[in-house]
Amino acid sequence: MNEALLVIRNLRKSYGTSPAVQGVSFSIARGEMFGLLGPNGAGKSTTLSMLAGLIRPDSGQILVDGLDLQGHLKAIKARIGLVPQELALYPTLSARDNLIFWGQIYGLRGKILKQRIAQALDVVSLSDRADEAVNHYSGGMKRRINMAIGLLHQPEILFLDEPTVGVDPQSRNAIFESVEALNKAGMTVIYTTHYMEEAERLCQRVAIMDHGQIIALDTPANLIRLVDGSMIRLSIADGLVKDVRARSETLPRVKCVTQRDHQLDIQTADTQQTLVEVLKITQQIGAQVTALQVLDNNLETVFLNLTGKSLRD
Ligand SMILES: Nc1ncnc2c1ncn2[C@@H]1O[C@H](COP(=O)(O)OP(=O)(O)OP(=O)(O)O)[C@@H](O)[C@H]1O
Ligand SMILES: [Mg+2]
Repeated sequence: MNEALLVIRNLRKSYGTSPAVQGVSFSIARGEMFGLLGPNGAGKSTTLSMLAGLIRPDSGQILVDGLDLQGHLKAIKARIGLVPQELALYPTLSARDNLIFWGQIYGLRGKILKQRIAQALDVVSLSDRADEAVNHYSGGMKRRINMAIGLLHQPEILFLDEPTVGVDPQSRNAIFESVEALNKAGMTVIYTTHYMEEAERLCQRVAIMDHGQIIALDTPANLIRLVDGSMIRLSIADGLVKDVRARSETLPRVKCVTQRDHQLDIQTADTQQTLVEVLKITQQIGAQVTALQVLDNNLETVFLNLTGKSLRD
């Protein structure tokens, strides 16, 4: 791996008495695309806000290129772009005017500002719509403009906080392509999401966060390899799903069972054995199986195995 561009040591942050980030440490290599994956409230945004120098950690250290962030805040902030989870747009202004406003805040003026706006619009593929008011944009287009703002000062490190939440498939793909292109051109990217398939597709390494802590960190393939067995997904017709769930949970090789309406996800260390036993249960209690699948492990099942709960619960 390349040298570390970012080193994070034992970062902690509480809001009042509630801890949000509880001793997070990791390093990111120059040019890496790194994913921070976790459910709502895991502490992803709080971690990013500290890395971007927006909030001060209670304790711990952040080094960027060997320099302490708190001691070199101004210089380091100029090298960092943060695309926040919340949109930071003026709805009645056009996208271009929003970019002019934010560009001026970054200290850009005149020809350079114009050039940077054109480049940022090109990266997010919205050059042809730039003069429309932002409140006429779709949710996905707003997110893309939000991202363009984070690119105006040409940062070396880009933090993207859940850039695809509430986004239509077309914008989602446009965002993926922009992020991939930026990373290919050398930008270091830290990407938070609770969509495991995005992290799996985009990120070279992924940290899984829960309750303010990192509970696993590796390449997606290595994380997935850690989990034995597979997931059996079955749907049960009305009424008896709870009974099937309760009895499946007691089976010897079953690690956890999660339920969404009539659907049960049974994580097992032994697919063959559990499959036979679960079907026996449904037969004994007279439950009707309306769908049955055996699914390969992915980052979502990694999370399930680590925590016993679903990422999207
Ligand atoms: N400004 C704040 N004041 C008080 N508590 C906060 C604040 N921001 C976050 N929290 C709390 O800190 C914890 C971590 O929140 P954070 O926003 O970092 O999580 P997250 O992983 O980004 O979640 P999400 O996926 O919902 O965006 C949560 O319990 C949250 O309620
Ligand atoms: Mg968040």
